Amino acid sequence: MKLPYLIILCCLVLAFFSSCRGQEKKDSSSSWKVQSTVDVGGPFENREFTYYNIPRNISATDTSPGFTLSGQKLLVTGIVYQSDAKTPATGVLLYYYQTNTEGRYLHKPEEKRSMPPNDRGQTHGYIRGWVKTGSDGRYSIYTIRPGSYPDAKEPAHIHATVKEPNDIAEYWIDDFVFDDDKLLTQRHRERLSKRAGSGILELKKKDGLWVGDRNLVLGLNISGYPSK
Ligand SMILES: [Fe+2]
Repeated sequence: MKLPYLIILCCLVLAFFSSCRGQEKKDSSSSWKVQSTVDVGGPFENREFTYYNIPRNISATDTSPGFTLSGQKLLVTGIVYQSDAKTPATGVLLYYYQTNTEGRYLHKPEEKRSMPPNDRGQTHGYIRGWVKTGSDGRYSIYTIRPGSYPDAKEPAHIHATVKEPNDIAEYWIDDFVFDDDKLLTQRHRERLSKRAGSGILELKKKDGLWVGDRNLVLGLNISGYPSK
């Protein structure tokens, strides 16, 4: 083979392998966002925080930086179902963030996931993380039970956002709240919109952990969600 042809061949081989490496990076924040073209569930503030410092590899189980705090240690777990409420949903990203046990969203620079406040002073703090479902649809989050806000007006809660592996943009779902929370009044319960299903956790103690089960149904009570 003549030298010019050999050089062209080498370039083609290199280009092929570099594009393959590029495809391996798909599980990053940019790839989740690029796919989002269908807005559902109404606008919400700071949706881009979902992807702040998102890791490249996300598994179905996560332990939050709050798990080591003293308090009620939680395992929040369940199955994410397709909109038919029967078929487990694969590859669904679930982002969560919460206060510490004193009801505060703190920024801790030494924590990799921690988010510094933006120019409006808003942050999701450091107790935040992501899970991504496997073929069984299951997710598991080990964390600490959050405290209610210092003004004690709202029930303690864990916020959550879903991003499906399709062109539907991320949408927020009902907070995880606690059935035994005195602040979760009848009035609060009536106001819950049950986005992706009820977020009320009935905790049961198992092996030193307080376990709360919550199954999610994609698109349930989400306005504008495409019907199949
Ligand atoms: Fe909150």
